[in-house]
Amino acid sequence: MNKKLFCHPGRTRLLVLAVILSAALTSAVWAQTPAEIDAAVKAAYAKYKDLQEGKNADYIPALAKVDPNLFGIAVVGPDGKVYSAGDLATEVSIQSISKVFTMALVMQQQGPAAIEKTIGVDATGMRFNSIVAVEMAKKELGGPELNALVNPGAITSTSMVQGTSADDIWAKISACYDDFAGRKLTVLEDVYKSEAETNQRNQAIGMLMYAYGYIKDKPLQATDIYTKQCSVGVNAKDLACMAATLAFGGKNPVTGKQALDPRNVPYVLAVMATAGLYDDSGKWLYHTGLPAKSGVGGGIIAVVPNRFGIAVVSPPLDDAGNSVRAQKAITYIVEALKLNPYASMPK
Ligand code: DON
Repeated sequence: MNKKLFCHPGRTRLLVLAVILSAALTSAVWAQTPAEIDAAVKAAYAKYKDLQEGKNADYIPALAKVDPNLFGIAVVGPDGKVYSAGDLATEVSIQSISKVFTMALVMQQQGPAAIEKTIGVDATGMRFNSIVAVEMAKKELGGPELNALVNPGAITSTSMVQGTSADDIWAKISACYDDFAGRKLTVLEDVYKSEAETNQRNQAIGMLMYAYGYIKDKPLQATDIYTKQCSVGVNAKDLACMAATLAFGGKNPVTGKQALDPRNVPYVLAVMATAGLYDDSGKWLYHTGLPAKSGVGGGIIAVVPNRFGIAVVSPPLDDAGNSVRAQKAITYIVEALKLNPYASMPK
């Protein structure tokens, strides 16, 4: 090694300058100004606000009545700053997005291995309420495992939440969601009633998971609590805060509250990446590279680790059960702000 090259004061100054310049260039490529973030969010809203594709879920009657024109986008950054466009106030039911946070709560109570061993962490490649997926998951058939983001795994993960009674279990789930959202959330009673009256398929899934030994006790109680957790009301900002809490090591960037042990975050995000948009999870990852989760209420959250939590609410869904406008708006923001973590740069 040429020691002189490194010791010469002039050269040292040059080296330091080069390092500063290269850091500045890197951040110019990867970090955006607040004005640029705001512009991307507003542009995504303007581009898709008149899009008429998709249809509200109607297998839960209350969801068919939600205004299909509702459209809100929120992005939360590390300092808790919220960038938004459209409707930030109207609540929709959280639906399947709840599965992420109940899974996180089980990890918090029992560690990530409990989810992996009891439910599995592989994509089924089937619809979210597939009973065939349960049959295929049977080990003796050599089939794929399940995961906590499709109904059989989600009802199982709700059954795993530890508590002294149904009310206590619900209190724990509810408090966990509140910590992630940064405010007290409430159940949309009309949605809960509507889904409780029509959730016979989920009851059957709960019973099947009990019959096969995944659920240890009280399968119908677990299905009822699962139905209630799906009916929690959230707006775009709540969802973006929940996503941002996952983006920043489990600490809510708005309230500063540590909602989840940071060691659990990578496990939560991994399941979201492989199974967050059901049988379209591969397509989603192909286009955005981001862990995300959808719900039939019309919400989608996406997590950009250490950068942003993103959420969009828009009820009309595609055939896979994912919000059409939410997928498009998030994809637009990801491209505009270069947020795909797989987009490496040549050095
Ligand atoms: O279990 C159900 O049918 C609903 N409570 C949740 C489904 C859901 O959100 C699937 N999402 N894409």
